[in-house]
Amino acid sequence: MSRVAVFGAGYVGLVTGACFADLGHEVVVRDVLPDRIDALRRGEVPIFEPGLDELLARNAERLTFTLDVAEAVRDAEFLYVAVGTPPTYSGDADLSAVWTVVDELQGVEQPAVVVMKSTVPVGTGAKVRHRLDERGLTHIGYASNPEFTAEGTAIRDFRHPDRIVIGAFDLVDGDAVEELHRGIEGPIVRCDVASAEMIKLAANAALMTRISFINEIANVCEATGADVVRVAEGVGLDRRIGPSFLRAGIGYGGSCFPKDSLALKQLAANSGYHFQLLNAVIEVNELQKRRVIGKLKQHLGSLRGKSVALLGLAFKPNTDDTREAPSLVLAGRLVAEGADVRAWDPVADGRAILPQATIHDSPLEALDGADAAVLVTEWPELVELDWAEAARRMRNALLVDGRNLLDPEELRSAGFAYEGIGRAAG
Ligand code: UDX
Ligand code: UDX
Repeated sequence: MSRVAVFGAGYVGLVTGACFADLGHEVVVRDVLPDRIDALRRGEVPIFEPGLDELLARNAERLTFTLDVAEAVRDAEFLYVAVGTPPTYSGDADLSAVWTVVDELQGVEQPAVVVMKSTVPVGTGAKVRHRLDERGLTHIGYASNPEFTAEGTAIRDFRHPDRIVIGAFDLVDGDAVEELHRGIEGPIVRCDVASAEMIKLAANAALMTRISFINEIANVCEATGADVVRVAEGVGLDRRIGPSFLRAGIGYGGSCFPKDSLALKQLAANSGYHFQLLNAVIEVNELQKRRVIGKLKQHLGSLRGKSVALLGLAFKPNTDDTREAPSLVLAGRLVAEGADVRAWDPVADGRAILPQATIHDSPLEALDGADAAVLVTEWPELVELDWAEAARRMRNALLVDGRNLLDPEELRSAGFAYEGIGRAAG
């Protein structure tokens, strides 16, 4: 069994740490936020990720949380980097947290491997290798081991991966990282560091491309009278295409897709290449988030003084994460149109992110007296909701189903004017 230090106790770092501990390794998770470390030591999990609290509790004896770098790196064979890499103003990835961690490794005397879990531009590994060498840390190896875990299913994704990608400069370092994953079944892709970095960016770009593609098909469906839900089903059954990531909606959000698409766009541009397809994917997504406003106006005319309820704020269900969530753009646009915004989400902290909105504890409360509802996040609670009761409570029973979650016919018989995305208006 190995000793693993994980830098960053966020969505990725905590899942990585908990899953390695569950494989039997000794794990120390280090973060710079005292409140976060205190909470973790008390057994409180600072983020919402299904199954994480239980996994951390079950492996508590092999998991330590610290603010202290020296404690984290002591005897560690693997130094996992899972700090955030948000976009800078220019759209490039901000690597300052990564560099801070690399600079903190000065005192590591034992042989160890730095393993990059954070999503970084292609070429970052080579730069880190150079800096380690400059500092005399030639006994520390380097590998890229990108994450492909989606929030909400991160633990399952880690334990049952479609593949484990390991890029290393030295074969032995790659072998060591491969051995660390023993117990996890899944194809292993061994490659050079730059290719591993690109696999992560390209995989995300491919998924985003599918989403923007089906969203554009949805928009054409609306103009021509087809139903994108049926279309996606019929298209996805083609084995060469497959059914995943063909759900039309109000655009992708989250901590990865928007950031990583910008980072790849800038990476290409900085290298002299204009990535036209990716630019279109990003633009389609921006427009898609705003199309809901047009649908509301078709029914209500001016939105000034109208009360619009947003059902769901998280960028997808089963997470409290609202980073780059379509709900934020939607709320901003509604306020700009003079509408009165009210919202509900079962876990996301609406009061913190939408001070301009009134936050309610249940969907029915949010809908009470509203002129329109927008289903933003496909929470299971919304499938279960008594929509006939919702229609009675609203001043005007209009629903824009931004995720095509509900059955249009059922909603219409419950008294709603129903609009989906890419579904012919009934
Ligand atoms: C990760 C990143 O690795 C990113 O590159 C990837 O694309 C998506 O997932 P995530 O875990 O979602 O990010 O980020 P976040 O939840 O913000 O956690 C990052 C943690 O690192 C925070 O707890 C932060 O306090 C910590 N941190 C930041 C450090 O410990 N040290 C630093 O110098 C900076
Ligand atoms: C993503 C990748 O899936 C994961 O491999 C990577 O490591 C991190 O980024 P995540 O952002 O957690 O994971 O969620 P994901 O389930 O991929 O959804 C991203 C966004 O796309 C969400 O806003 C979701 O609503 C949207 N989406 C997804 C669609 O609009 N349609 C789809 O068919 C699928």
